[in-house]
Amino acid sequence: MSSATPTTGSAAQAQRLTERPAWKALEDHYATMRNLHLRQLFADDPHRGERLTAEAAGIYLDYSKQRITGETIRLLMRLADECGLRERIAAMFHGERINVTEKRAVLHTALRAPETAQIVVDGVDVVPAVHALLNRMAAFSLQVRSGEWQGYTGKRIRNIINIGIGGSDLGPVMAYEALRYYSRRDMIFRFVSNVDGTDFEEATRDIDPEETLFIICSKTFTTLETLTNAHAARAWSLRKLGDDRAVRRHFVAVSANAEGVSRFGIDTENMFGFWDWVGGRYSMDSAIGLSTMIAIGPENFRAMLAGFHAMDQHFRNAPFAQNLPVLMGMLTVWNNNFFDAQTVAVLPYERYLKRFPAYLQQLTMESNGKHVTLDGTCVAYQTGPIYWGEPGTNGQHSFYQLIHQGTKLVPCDFIGFCQTLNPIDSQHDLLMSNLFAQAEALAFGKTGDEVEAEGTPGWLAPHRVFEGNRPSNTLLVKRLTPRTLGLLVALYEHSVFTQGTIWDIDSFDQWGVELGKALAQRVAPELEGMDEPPLKHDSSTNALIRHYRHLKNGPL
Ligand code: F6P
Repeated sequence: MSSATPTTGSAAQAQRLTERPAWKALEDHYATMRNLHLRQLFADDPHRGERLTAEAAGIYLDYSKQRITGETIRLLMRLADECGLRERIAAMFHGERINVTEKRAVLHTALRAPETAQIVVDGVDVVPAVHALLNRMAAFSLQVRSGEWQGYTGKRIRNIINIGIGGSDLGPVMAYEALRYYSRRDMIFRFVSNVDGTDFEEATRDIDPEETLFIICSKTFTTLETLTNAHAARAWSLRKLGDDRAVRRHFVAVSANAEGVSRFGIDTENMFGFWDWVGGRYSMDSAIGLSTMIAIGPENFRAMLAGFHAMDQHFRNAPFAQNLPVLMGMLTVWNNNFFDAQTVAVLPYERYLKRFPAYLQQLTMESNGKHVTLDGTCVAYQTGPIYWGEPGTNGQHSFYQLIHQGTKLVPCDFIGFCQTLNPIDSQHDLLMSNLFAQAEALAFGKTGDEVEAEGTPGWLAPHRVFEGNRPSNTLLVKRLTPRTLGLLVALYEHSVFTQGTIWDIDSFDQWGVELGKALAQRVAPELEGMDEPPLKHDSSTNALIRHYRHLKNGPL
């Protein structure tokens, strides 16, 4: 039920986080935990590796290699209760306006609700509209996949270019790469996001406009990068197709701004809409996923939505101590706020998930990179950590050195699949043995005694010591499918929400992107033309602009 007035957080939030009894208890508890080694914790409890695990909807989470005890979990769950997480989850699922600064409901969960569900926003059940849109997307996808939707000159569409940025790009490109195994191999899918002309040029240089369909994705249809690339796309198409009427067959839009779409010249009949209660970084299973649906087909797309929904149900209903997103979110709070870990490394041992860390960067950091609470007070504690990562095993030959022996604590999320999609001899076992070994090495390390016992000379021994005690989660899934991808993404979405609730911040706005955008608009005209413009920036920005203009306008 949507409320007419913005929700400014539950009564529970009136108390500051660091004054909460559970927070204070966690501070005391941390003092007893900070020097405890995982070696000791495992030695004390032979069943720890089975006990500190949870499983839901086909995702197995092992969090036994976190620097915790049962007491830590008990206190973290108490903190979640004190912060009103249960009520906040209910408020989100009921369509309350929990995005307080934009006065919006946050209902990405409605995008994957079954037809039988009822979710009311401003007195209207949104579920029928969600399914009507999905059906339209499905019909269009089938037309393109079958060749029934032809280009202006009658040729079959073979190339799909998604133009969008942020949430209108990262979800689609991640999902396409993740589900490439299930995709149409006789079609090309590319993603243009950057205002850097190279992005567009490289995406189009070897394809034929007569066989190319552009999907212009922009919730607002005002985003500079997307509109610039959309104009470049139209010019590129019309150079060959020659006739404005061709736009109808080669351009569709996904947007909440029908006026902007038609001003650009795309017939609103070729527009797939969505709603202001879907945030950009939470939109990959809205019409923003049109390229995904064309790639993998409507049935697979619906299977992905079913995975999202299964995790939604789990998050909404499971007790906190067995609730995967709650556990992962609260463990992040533990590492971030007590162990002072500044980052989280996401390490999928699955090549198809190569864009998953990049996707998570927007999801986590645009959501929780905030410095004030819901009521505008400056926080007195750390909020969202930096998320980063690369697929294994490549990262092992790059940055793992720092994770193992550096001076920073980097909690890791390892993600692995038990069945590979591409079996070649025993390569998958090799891949997975690396995942298990890395988590083991991080947790237990190698002591000075062990190094010496190997006959390492004394001068070299310190270099070969691994102190261990470096925390990680391991997520194991049977197989990468559309459904399990949906489960995984929803798991992180709700973990982000859990963290944001504890920090009492608005995880659904993104004011931090505005200032740079506005300044760029001021700078852009100062870079044009041959006459030196008067510059009124700081001395550094002024000098950089002059240097740029000098070289730009000089000889090659
Ligand atoms: O970077 C800010 C942002 O608003 C993101 O939140 C969003 O995903 C992206 O820009 C793209 O916005 P739009 O879909 O409106 O073009």
